[in-house]
Amino acid sequence: MKPVVITGAAGFIASHLCEALLAAGCTVYGVDAFSPHYARELKELNLLASVAHKRFAFHELDILDPALDELVGEAKWVFHLAARPGVRDSWSDFEDYNRANILGTRAVLDATARHHVRLIYASSSSVYGNAVELPVSEAAPLRPVSPYGASKVMTEMLSGAYARSYGLETVGLRYFTVYGPRQRPDMALARFIEAMLAGREVLLFGDGRQLRDFTYVGDVVAATVAAAERGRAGAVYNVASGNARPLLEVLDALGDALNREPRLAFDTTKAGDVRDTWACTDLACRELGFQAETSLTEGLAAQVREAKRRRVALAAAKPNTSSSSSALSR
Ligand SMILES: NC(=O)c1ccc[n+]([C@@H]2O[C@H](COP(=O)([O-])OP(=O)(O)OC[C@H]3O[C@@H](n4cnc5c(N)ncnc54)[C@H](O)[C@@H]3O)[C@@H](O)[C@H]2O)c1
Repeated sequence: MKPVVITGAAGFIASHLCEALLAAGCTVYGVDAFSPHYARELKELNLLASVAHKRFAFHELDILDPALDELVGEAKWVFHLAARPGVRDSWSDFEDYNRANILGTRAVLDATARHHVRLIYASSSSVYGNAVELPVSEAAPLRPVSPYGASKVMTEMLSGAYARSYGLETVGLRYFTVYGPRQRPDMALARFIEAMLAGREVLLFGDGRQLRDFTYVGDVVAATVAAAERGRAGAVYNVASGNARPLLEVLDALGDALNREPRLAFDTTKAGDVRDTWACTDLACRELGFQAETSLTEGLAAQVREAKRRRVALAAAKPNTSSSSSALSR
C-alpha cells in the first residue's frame, strides 16, 4: 500500500493526524523541520508515539528541500500542515510566514502536481477576518486582518491555480481554533492552563466576551481524514465545532477542569485578532459526513490531563536533555 506524507508532522495537529492514520493501517512519512517558533523538545514529545510505530518514518526535512519530491513521488495522499502559525507575530516576522506558508506551500504544490498526488492542506478561519455574517460560510469574502491570514489566503489561491492549471486534486480545510492535548504553547488555552498551574494571573486580550469556535483536535483529525477520502477536488471546507462560546465562559469551564479559580488580567486586543469566530459547518457535514463530536468539557479535560503529564515529563527530562532526542534516532 502506498504511504501518505504528512508535512508539519511534529506539530500539534499533524502529530495527532500521524497517529490516526497509523491506527487506520497507513504507512506514514512524517516531514518536519522543527522550525524554532516553539521548543523542539515539545515537538519531539508530540512524535513519541508515532516514532515507536513500525509503519512510521520520520524525515527531518524542510518542505523547501528538493528531497521532498522523492517522498511525494511514492505517496497516495499528501497532508500539508507545515506552516508558521499564529496571528500576532506575523506583523514582525513576515519573512518567516512567507517562507513557510507561501514559498513552502508552492514547493509542496510543485511536487504533488508533478506526481499527480491528491493534496489535503490546512488553511485557517483567519482567511475571513471579521466576517459580517456569523456563522460564517465558505462563500463569505476573504478579508484577513493579519499577515498570517493573508498568507493562508495565498495558500488557497496557489492551490486553486495548481488545480486549474495542472489538474491537481486539492482539498482545503479552514480550521477553527483547534484545542486539545499538545496545543501549541502560544495559543490561548495552553497559556491559560500553564498560568493557572503555575499560580499566575491569566492574561486575556480584549474583554473576554469575544466568541471562539473551539474545535477539538480529534474532531479536526477526523475531518482531515474524511477530506482525503471524500473531499471534492477543488473544495475548501470549514472545519469547526459550529458552537461559538465567549472566552470567559470557556475560562470558567477550564477553571472547573483544573479545579482552580482563574485570576484574570486584561489587556487590549492586538492588531490581527478577530473579534469573533463561528463557523457554519453545513458543507463539511453534507460532503464529508463530518460533525464535531467532542464536548468542550471532555476536550478541556483531555488537554488539562496532557498538560499536567507534560509538565512532569519536562521537569524530569531537564537534567538530561539528550533523553528526548534519543527517541527520534531510533
Ligand atoms: N492550531 C490551530 O488552531 C489552527 C487553526 C487554523 C489553522 N491551523 C493550521 O494548521 C496547521 C497546523 O497548525 P498547528 O497548530 O499544529 O501548528 P504547529 O506549529 O504545532 O505545527 C506546524 C509544524 O510545521 C513545521 N514546519 C514549519 N515550517 C516548516 C518547513 N518549512 N518545513 C517543514 N516543517 C515546517 C513546524 O516545525 C511545526 O512542527 C498549520 O498550517 C496552521 O496554520 C491551525
